[in-house]
Amino acid sequence: MEFLRREYPDFGHGDFRTSSYEIVSSKAHTLSGIKYEKYECFKGRDRVFGMPHVRIGSEEEAETLIIHLYDSFLQIRMKIFYLLLEDYSAIVRKVSFENISNEPVKASKLMSFSIDLPSASYDLMFLKGAWSRERHVERVPLHKGIQSIGSTKGSSSHTFNPFVALLDKKTTEHQGEVYGFSLIYSGNFLALAEVDNFDITRVMMGIHTQGFSWVLKEGEVFYTPEALLVYNNEGLNGLSQEYHKIIERHIILEKYRNDVRPVLINNWEATYFNFDEDTMLTIASEARNLGFDLFVLDDGWFGKRNDDKTSLSEWTPNYDKLPNGISGLSKKVVDLGIQFGLWFEPEMVSEDTRLYNENPDFVLGHFNYPKSHGRNQFVLDFSNEAVVNEIFERMKRILNDSSVSYVKWDMNRSITEAYSQSLSKEHQGEFYHRYILGVYKLYEMLTNAFPHILFESCAGGGGRFDLGLLYYAPQTWTSDDTDAWERVKIQYGTSMIYPIKSMGSHVSAVPNHQVGRNTSLKMRHDTAIFGTYGYELDITTMSDEEKIEVRNNIEFFKTYQNLIHHGKFYRLLSPFDGEAASYMVISECQSKALVYYSHGLQVPNAPLSNLKLRGLDPAKKYRIHGAKSSHHGDELMNLGVLFTESYFEKDFIDNFLKPGDFKSLILEITEIK
Ligand code: GLA
Repeated sequence: MEFLRREYPDFGHGDFRTSSYEIVSSKAHTLSGIKYEKYECFKGRDRVFGMPHVRIGSEEEAETLIIHLYDSFLQIRMKIFYLLLEDYSAIVRKVSFENISNEPVKASKLMSFSIDLPSASYDLMFLKGAWSRERHVERVPLHKGIQSIGSTKGSSSHTFNPFVALLDKKTTEHQGEVYGFSLIYSGNFLALAEVDNFDITRVMMGIHTQGFSWVLKEGEVFYTPEALLVYNNEGLNGLSQEYHKIIERHIILEKYRNDVRPVLINNWEATYFNFDEDTMLTIASEARNLGFDLFVLDDGWFGKRNDDKTSLSEWTPNYDKLPNGISGLSKKVVDLGIQFGLWFEPEMVSEDTRLYNENPDFVLGHFNYPKSHGRNQFVLDFSNEAVVNEIFERMKRILNDSSVSYVKWDMNRSITEAYSQSLSKEHQGEFYHRYILGVYKLYEMLTNAFPHILFESCAGGGGRFDLGLLYYAPQTWTSDDTDAWERVKIQYGTSMIYPIKSMGSHVSAVPNHQVGRNTSLKMRHDTAIFGTYGYELDITTMSDEEKIEVRNNIEFFKTYQNLIHHGKFYRLLSPFDGEAASYMVISECQSKALVYYSHGLQVPNAPLSNLKLRGLDPAKKYRIHGAKSSHHGDELMNLGVLFTESYFEKDFIDNFLKPGDFKSLILEITEIK
């Protein structure tokens, strides 16, 4: 067995590499003898309940292969599912386990897939980070033995994203073979690559094994989360383009596929907890005048919440700040001619609340041990259905009573004491997975009850940016770090798999609240438009010139919104390789493109740089707004754009060429017929 390439390897029959599952039974402990039984094949896909998954519109879009396996002694049935997406080089995989014996069986490991590739010569690429610097790109050579990333924080986390890629050594952004693996899941995960001494690379992904076990009673079935496996031979950028299309078409809700997302203003960095109805209405009214579509009231509107120590779970208005409640405020905002959005943190509870004190069993942790604070708050037990229902009722009351068209669902701490008082001791190992199923359940209840509400997910910024949540909420707050140069890196990394239209990105104040850096309004705008555009600063204190700039910025974004959100995306220069970053979008018919270019610290006496574009039609002639002459596509792609005074009009390039840190340019490119 140890020489073979295997499909869903067990342990105990001569394959000493990492196994993809482990079952513990009273009959044979960890031994099992699962054998091939039969297969079935059909158009379309199997039905899925309660878990995010790949959506299929019509049966023609996909085909399913199911391999049935059976252990006649343990009486366990296993099925390996393969869903082939017709239009993409992608396979969706998952596994189910069914106990058909008359006694319980425990699984202590159930990976979503395993695959053995016939080479040891790959690089591993993944997205790493921490709060305020999520999804930075890392590429390392695979070595003999095991390399892995994962999360044990209860959420997919800021630390690693549930995505890895294996690249041929010579693969670049635009050339070469690459295999992408990602989990459609928002909880603890493990992604592992093992290179053996016979030059086979085994890759597997699934729910993290730390603390995991699942007891299957007689007749019960367990389904692993789905994994999306994508192959591309046009480099990393080709892989990203494939992922973007699959996510737009098969993960997010269909109604958000071609919609126009609202340009929003969020009050968080403008006021933090310090606001009242008047200040909110002043911001909303100014926002309306400047062309915003949506005003979002962030944290601090409920209970006695004037700082982050209190009131979570009390989803009733703070009447000291908002005498007319959310109902009154939201209606006044809507009367101004702008939509209203609201922040919630449904999974959390503060110590000073009735919920915490009257229902201690609703809070995670064991009564014999201290519970750890995280941002002064505790985590509700979402593995308990009663908790999910209670929070749904509380949110429903306020949403029914107000004119809310957008909800930001936040989650500001990790799970530490993973113990549920609602689960018996045999079932505690199921907690983490049941918790995230509870999160999905609440998303499902809310999106069904309020289909007109647009959800944006968030977890202390981008701590739960994953395909599981994109299934319910089509956009995610990418990071709490809104500094333009830091954001370029975060958005660049995020674009590896996630579409531009899924990234919440805002212009915020300077000096920036996270890193203290000053960047121009232009650079903050240029960076934020490659996402779902918004602002997060006090527009009422801006000068008249700045307000005009904001109005023009919004107009500019709206002109290009369709191209940015639906165009083909190309990364051109990586901020992880030097001081410059660049990417572009181009329309399907190759007649319009928008290019982003920026640099961080000024390089002294820098060499002349030429930015080579991608995706243009070599034979078409293009005009670059601000350039002195027109150019053919082949010239722009092979020679590139030159950032010089001889190439561009002085007015256009002058400021950019003056020495200075943190400068940006947007190039608008149109075909000349
Ligand atoms: C998190 C979010 C922020 C903001 C605050 C409010 O940090 O990422 O955008 O909503 O919570 O407490």
